Amino acid sequence: MKYAEITGWGKCVPPAVLSNQDLTTFMDTSDEWITSRTGIRERRILHCNFSDMAVVAARRALAAANLDPMDLDLILLGSLTVDSMCPNTASLIADELGARNAAAIDLNSACTGFLYGLHIGTNLIKTGAHKKVLVLGGEFISHYMDWSNRDVAVLFGDACGAVVLEASDTPGILATDIHADGKHVGLLCVPGHVQNGQILGDPVLKMDGQGVFKRAVGVLEATARTVLDKARLTDADLDWLVPHQANIRIIQSTAKKLKLPMENVMVTVDQHGNTSAASIPLALDAGVRGGRIQRGQTVLLEGVGGGFTWGAVLLTL
Ligand code: ACO
Repeated sequence: MKYAEITGWGKCVPPAVLSNQDLTTFMDTSDEWITSRTGIRERRILHCNFSDMAVVAARRALAAANLDPMDLDLILLGSLTVDSMCPNTASLIADELGARNAAAIDLNSACTGFLYGLHIGTNLIKTGAHKKVLVLGGEFISHYMDWSNRDVAVLFGDACGAVVLEASDTPGILATDIHADGKHVGLLCVPGHVQNGQILGDPVLKMDGQGVFKRAVGVLEATARTVLDKARLTDADLDWLVPHQANIRIIQSTAKKLKLPMENVMVTVDQHGNTSAASIPLALDAGVRGGRIQRGQTVLLEGVGGGFTWGAVLLTL
């Protein structure tokens, strides 16, 4: 079997809703400012461990794929907000799931973490090294928020999404493309870290919003063209765009460049805000379970994140 295909998908969003209106009770902002600039109406806030949320998303993806946790041979977790530095959170998820046969790896590529996981999982399946891989993307990014900084705090939310990737005789994943450029670390970062048992520096999320916007628009078009070229397809072959859900204006601009009408773009940023590595699997799950994305259709996933990282995955379901 020389291909990898997605056979299951799932998500978990925490029950606690924080609406734009709620934010106005403790921050100088407005629903109008947030929705007009970002498209976000509400976000979810996590009140348990990240791994507990991730396990729910994983169980849903496994159920959709009709697999048992013991069938998995690898778990890849894209996240920048893990439960602990050691053990890695993928191991905590494996333990809670009962996935005793799976290796477990955390991947920190910020919002691009899920795409990095799909790229790595696909290529490990193609080499024959692994056959059944759980790829998760998720964050409890609210814990890294400075709630007095309205520039950043209104944008993000917590959630986790997951897919199962399996070896297959027919192509599901058609092409992948990932990148990083460390020159742009300052665009989106959490500069603080732990040293000698103390937090050194500022451990909250910092962002240059306009810098992210300008860089995102260019690299997203380039990475989309790369995966289309690799698969020998064109814009016209695309049925769906499932983009990273950072901001409706970035999504609209990418869709325009790919000549895709917004009816063919999955948008969930209004309900969840920017959930970083979770946003693409959340939108994919919504599209498939909602019956909009159909089997056999060609789907482009793409996104950018801190690092600066970016990438795309082209697939048929
Ligand atoms: N509520 C009300 N006013 C606000 C808020 C807020 N939450 N935040 C900032 N403002 C004010 C500013 O203080 C400023 O006021 P001033 O003109 O009196 O100085 C004014 O609004 C404009 O601020 P800007 O930062 O210039 O706002 P901008 O129009 O650039 O919008 C935004 C900010 C939405 C973040 C924009 O830069 C953007 O879309 N960036 C794209 C990147 C993005 O979405 N990043 C998030 C995730 S990154 C990722 O996922 C990889």
